[in-house]
Parts: sequence; C-alpha cells; structure tokens
Amino acid sequence: MFDTVIKGGMIYSTAGVFEGDIGITGETIAEIKEGGGLEGEHVIDATGKCVFPGFIDPHVHIHLPFMGTNAIDDHGSATKAALVGGTTTIIEMICPGPEDEPAKAFAEWKELAEAGCCCDFSFHLAVVRFDDLAKEQLRELVANEGVQSFKIFLAYKGALDMNDENLFKLMQLCQELGVTLTAHCENAEAIDSMQKKLLAEGKTGPEWHEPSRPRSVEADGVNHLCSFAELTGATIYIVHTSCGIAIDRAIEARGRGVDVTVEAVAPHLVLDKTYAERPDFEGAKYVMSPPLRDKEEHDALWRGLASGAVSTIGTDHAPFNFKGQKDMGKGVFTLIPNGIPSIQERVDLIHTHGVCTGKIEMKTMVDVCSTNVAKTFNMYPQKGALAVGSDADMVVYDPNFSGTFTHEDGLSKIDYSGFEGMARRGRSDFVLLRGKLVAKQGKFVGETAAGLYISRIN
Ligand code: URP
Ligand code: ZN
Ligand code: ZN
Repeated sequence: MFDTVIKGGMIYSTAGVFEGDIGITGETIAEIKEGGGLEGEHVIDATGKCVFPGFIDPHVHIHLPFMGTNAIDDHGSATKAALVGGTTTIIEMICPGPEDEPAKAFAEWKELAEAGCCCDFSFHLAVVRFDDLAKEQLRELVANEGVQSFKIFLAYKGALDMNDENLFKLMQLCQELGVTLTAHCENAEAIDSMQKKLLAEGKTGPEWHEPSRPRSVEADGVNHLCSFAELTGATIYIVHTSCGIAIDRAIEARGRGVDVTVEAVAPHLVLDKTYAERPDFEGAKYVMSPPLRDKEEHDALWRGLASGAVSTIGTDHAPFNFKGQKDMGKGVFTLIPNGIPSIQERVDLIHTHGVCTGKIEMKTMVDVCSTNVAKTFNMYPQKGALAVGSDADMVVYDPNFSGTFTHEDGLSKIDYSGFEGMARRGRSDFVLLRGKLVAKQGKFVGETAAGLYISRIN
C-alpha cells in the first residue's frame, strides 16, 4: 500500500511512455507499473491524462533589483504561480550589483527564497564584480553551497555587464571549477550606442527597443562567447535565444567542439515584435531583452527545439508592473524595465503553440521543460524524471483542457498578462511536490515556503 497512487495515466517515464500507475512513498517514487494495479491510501485518477515529471524552469528572476526598480513578485507569489502552471523546481538568477560581494548576495537571495519559496529552488549566480575577493568567494560558493552555474551579461552597460578581460578570466575559472557559465549574449557597447542614436533622432517609444538591439547584435554576442569558450574550454549555456542566426552561431561552435547548450524562453516562442509596437505605450508590456523578433523567428526556434539544437525552454520571468514600473520609461524607451513574465503560463503556452500545432512532440515538451534542464544543471535524476527513487514531483496534465489565458487567473503580483485573451490548450490538473499535492486545477493548495534548496554538488 503506497501513500499515494497516480492511477491510469499516460506516464512519461524514463523507461518509456505507457499507461499505468505510479506509487509514491513519502517524498519519493516507489514504483511505476505499466498496466496499473497499485493501491494507495490516496488515489489520484489520471485516466485520460498525461503524467509528467515536475517541470523545471531554468531561468527565473524573482528578487531582482534592476533598472531603478525591483521585480514585483516575491518568492511566495512567483512560486505559487509556478506550481499552478506545473513547475515544481525553479533556478533563480542571483543578480547582485557591481559593488556587491557574491557571498553576501548568495546569502541574501537564499534567505529570501527559503522564507517564501513554495516549490524547490536552486540558483545561477551572476558574476558582476570580479576582483580578488569576489574570485575567492566564488570558489567557496562552488565548494560549499552547491553553486554549479554562474551567469554573465553581455548587455546592460554600467549595470551588469562584464569586460572582456574579466570574461576571459572568469571562463578560465569556470573551466577549472567545472561550473557552467550561463550567458545573456548581446553586446553592451553596441546597444548603448544604438540606443543613444535612436533617442537623439526622437525615436523614444517602446517600438524602438528591438531596433536598438537587432538580431546581429545577439548573434555577435553568441559568437563572442563561443570563441572564448573554444579558447578556455568552459562549458556554456546561452539563455533566452531569440532568433535563428543566434542559434546558428552556437551550433557552428558546437561543431568545433564547444560544449554549448541553447535555451529558448516562452515569450520569444509565442509573441513577436508587433506587440511592442502597440499604441498608447502598451508596447512597454512587451519590452524584454533580447527583444521580441519578427514572427518568422518563431519557426527557427521551434525547429531548433524539434531538432535538438535548442535543448531547454525557460521563462525569463521578470515581472514589472505596467503602472508604476514600465511607465518609468514613457518617453525614453531605454528606461522601461525589461521583462515579460510567464512563470505560470510556460507549459501551457508550449503545449498550445508547440505540441497542439505539431511543431514539437509531447515527449520533446517534457524533455525541454524538465528532463534536459535537470540533466544540464546537475539535478537529474532527483528531478526531471519519472523513475523509481526520483523525487515524487509530478504533473497530471489534461491535454484536452481548453480555455483562455487571462490575468485574472494569475498568481503572480504582476498587473497584466502578456498573453491576455490568447487561446489555451492544456492544464496541469494535479501538481505534486515531493509527494504532496500542491496545486489542483489552477488553484494553489500547498504549503507556503515548503520549497527546498537543491544543492547541485556532484
Ligand atoms: O528582459 C529581460 N530579459 N529581463 C530580465 C533580465 C535578463 O536579461 O534576463
Ligand atoms: Zn538576460
Ligand atoms: Zn533573465
């Protein structure tokens, strides 16, 4: 007799996809039985539904001091939204300022996450300061705290960016420590010049955000990072890749032996740059970096996912209210805080726009939104797998649910939805975190701050 049995669902297990039962004891998957027949104290009927490993979001911002303000979510609101959307583990970006010590930043973010996270969590640590003290602390955080990935920004001049001397040395350090370097690939100097030129020409609205950082700038950033990776041997992970030529640069480097993984994020797969051109400043809701591109780029991203060129899908959840935050940039688009939240919508967006349209298989959705993330960031098979011994994080998913994305259903504190009114296919009907039911048909039913820190020491 198991504590809980998930009964009769189509199970996406590590051993294949089949109909059957999953038995849970405590926080762990104890048995998976094709054909069924398991008995439990609690039973969740999954007939006609899919059973997936809990989804993992590899790119989340919650505590984010950025562009003169702070992202609006706290760890409670963001992770309740995540769980309702089927995400049971997040990797948050720790983004300290240029003067901040990495160790203090790590402690600050971890304390906030422990006090609020309702799902499990881990971190990528952004390296902005890189003096001797910072280097020493980075080594200690890797050795003692299970930090396994750093983050750098080739963007945001004067705030988060890094010069080439430090970048090269950091990549040597990553190689030495076996740490993956995740990277926002653009070019801070080129963007700064382009922004100044556009503003001087009176081009001040959100529609000018994309032209200030075109695809070539992103491709250049990817190429630059890949060249340094080739020279240093560092393992790299390119976040929020928005266009085909950026993927191409990464794949060319892979062909030269560079260990490079490519991430896409939900907004780039669904929204296009015409959203940022909406009148009356509404376009500001759709300002993120790299920017939303031409619709044609969606196909390049979906093709990349289908072929394996692109391995993961995150959200880049970075919520800034339309009123009181985005409007700081009215009249000067460079002051609009960058970000389009989607932590709750990610899986349903990918199901609706990727699986239901035949662009990717259901199994690919599971891989890119869960399994590949766990494998890339040292959490597998504890996370990202339906296998005996894995954490009992799972989603009973109704692929036939049909509805509409709307802000009203959102648990994030954000005051708008970037997907308002769009058709939605699919819903995470039951979400379990380490064996406990935490979300049911769009409602959070879990315990606040029950999430655990996932140390990723090998
Ligand atoms: O627009 C974005 N992506 N905002 C969050 C910060 C970042 O670059 O990831
Ligand atoms: Zn970024
Ligand atoms: Zn980001």
